[in-house]
Amino acid sequence: MNTNEIPVAIVGLGLMGSSIVTCMLIAGHPVVALAPQSNDLLHAKQRITEDLIKSQANGIIQNAPEFYLENLLITENYDDLYACKLVIECTLEDIKIKESVFAKVEAVIASDAILTSNTSAIPISILQKLTKYPERFFGLHWAIPAHTTRFLEIICGDNSNIEHGEFLYELSSYWAKEPILVRKDIAGFITNRLMYAMYREAISLVEGGYATIEDIDRSCRNNAGYFMTMVGIFRWMDLTGVPAYHAVMKDLLPTLNNCQEVPKLITDIVDAGGKGTANGKGFYDYSPGEAKLWEETYAQFSYEIRELALKYPADIVKKKLKEKQDEQQKGQ
Ligand SMILES: NC(=O)c1ccc[n+]([C@@H]2O[C@H](COP(=O)([O-])OP(=O)(O)OC[C@H]3O[C@@H](n4cnc5c(N)ncnc54)[C@H](O)[C@@H]3O)[C@@H](O)[C@H]2O)c1
Repeated sequence: MNTNEIPVAIVGLGLMGSSIVTCMLIAGHPVVALAPQSNDLLHAKQRITEDLIKSQANGIIQNAPEFYLENLLITENYDDLYACKLVIECTLEDIKIKESVFAKVEAVIASDAILTSNTSAIPISILQKLTKYPERFFGLHWAIPAHTTRFLEIICGDNSNIEHGEFLYELSSYWAKEPILVRKDIAGFITNRLMYAMYREAISLVEGGYATIEDIDRSCRNNAGYFMTMVGIFRWMDLTGVPAYHAVMKDLLPTLNNCQEVPKLITDIVDAGGKGTANGKGFYDYSPGEAKLWEETYAQFSYEIRELALKYPADIVKKKLKEKQDEQQKGQ
């Protein structure tokens, strides 16, 4: 597959959109970056350039940012999307906004171009009903920063053509992803279902007075944070002995939080205008300098963990086994 023959459009150049643009440029696609609101033009080029500079400093790319930026068109005009074979919608998490964007995109692109949304949680089967050709519609769910993380969910809706999904699966390996093809639509897809189970339990432990926010973060960082990057959940249970988990589940599962209300702790923060590091008020309070440093330090960490994770791809043991077999054959 030749990525420079597959022009890609990203519609919406906020936090995620800019980062996806960077990922596509690094992968060699011609990219049309569409700003649905003029505001995006204030930051997009600078954000993308900064991401490319950091990517070069961290060895993700070999050439200077200008080399990649030559493939980039930033525009406010939907007509510029006409040749794109893949469109990634990345506007606010608002179904009405997404619907109006799909209509503008579909008025321009070819009928065989693939249309996707980076929605975090709106069911793909609902979104695809708002489009002209539902069979070419998919969820493409990224993690921030999109140009460094290996994570990508490709989500089919009820009417998606699985062949397009398999094409996206293959294409995304050129984006340095280890993708997940979610073959049946489900609310929250895979990763958010897992993470929200954890967010709910974490909040409930704080609300119940069992541990502080700091202690719960410390527990995640030093337990799950150590093993998950390499082995995930199921292999972790294999590595540490399945029967123990079976025994614990029997007694522990009935005690886990399964409340259906949004917890008070997070409601109070949001009702008071708290956004997190964006305005210095979240589960923790931040001075302006401190919030920026957390964001910068996390960005740096994401490059470093990427480097470590790349040394341990999903097929690492298969490769090691093959090396061993080859050595044995040589020795015979
Ligand atoms: N931030 C994340 O970590 C993350 C992760 C995965 C998925 N997502 C999803 O990606 C999408 C974008 O999130 P983000 O974090 O980049 O948001 P953002 O606020 O940084 O950007 C929002 C974008 O929406 C556009 N927009 C705002 N109002 C609009 C309108 N009326 N019409 C058309 N466009 C409009 C803006 O121009 C901007 O490009 C959302 O669906 C979000 O749920 C975000």
